[in-house]
Amino acid sequence: MIEIAIDGTSASGKGTLAKKLSEKYSIPHLDTGLMYRKVASEILKDKGNNLKNILELSCKIARTLNFENLQNKELRTEDTAKIASEIAVFPSLREILNLKQLEFVNKSNEQFGGCVLDGRDIGTKILPNASFKFFIDASIEIRAKRRLLEKNITFLHENDEKCMLQNLIKNMVERDNIDKSRPEAPMVAAKDAYIIDTTAINADELLSIATNIIEGNLTKN
Ligand code: DC
Repeated sequence: MIEIAIDGTSASGKGTLAKKLSEKYSIPHLDTGLMYRKVASEILKDKGNNLKNILELSCKIARTLNFENLQNKELRTEDTAKIASEIAVFPSLREILNLKQLEFVNKSNEQFGGCVLDGRDIGTKILPNASFKFFIDASIEIRAKRRLLEKNITFLHENDEKCMLQNLIKNMVERDNIDKSRPEAPMVAAKDAYIIDTTAINADELLSIATNIIEGNLTKN
């Protein structure tokens, strides 16, 4: 059985690595950030909500969440990401989503002999005994540039691009701070995680580093 835990900052390359490892080893992949984003996007749709009932509302949405409705463009917006990070501080919401993640892990291990999960607390909380743990990070400038490229926007003026990049940097720094400093399951590298900086490497190079680690260790045992 092979369980792979991938944590790290947004746009560090952790999601792409998770997808590629899932394909390479034919094991299911769960992007746990999408679960928080899904709850956030439902909150944003509910215009009548106020901050008082946001905890109750997020838990209600989380209880009925299933894995099929996590592929949606609206989950990728900056507004959704901001709310996702804000609600991710609620321990009772995390408890509901953690149970769903563990259900996915058990089912995948049984049916496919393993799984890959990516998020913020996979190596520390969800899969503490994972076969391999990775923590992926990169410089804030590179991460913001990658996010901007994903958005596929054509800018008429260079200044507009610079301005959007600055905004992305600001938003990402804010979210990193919330994710790192929350008391419950903060974003932190597990003690036994391989820490990889992707500032100067691309997705294929990252995959190659990760598979070398995995296969090097697999032949050792
Ligand atoms: O990976 P992402 O950017 O899609 O995640 C969005 C937010 O969800 C992130 O800012 C924090 C939260 N999150 C979390 O707290 N724990 C996880 N395992 C995954 C995501």
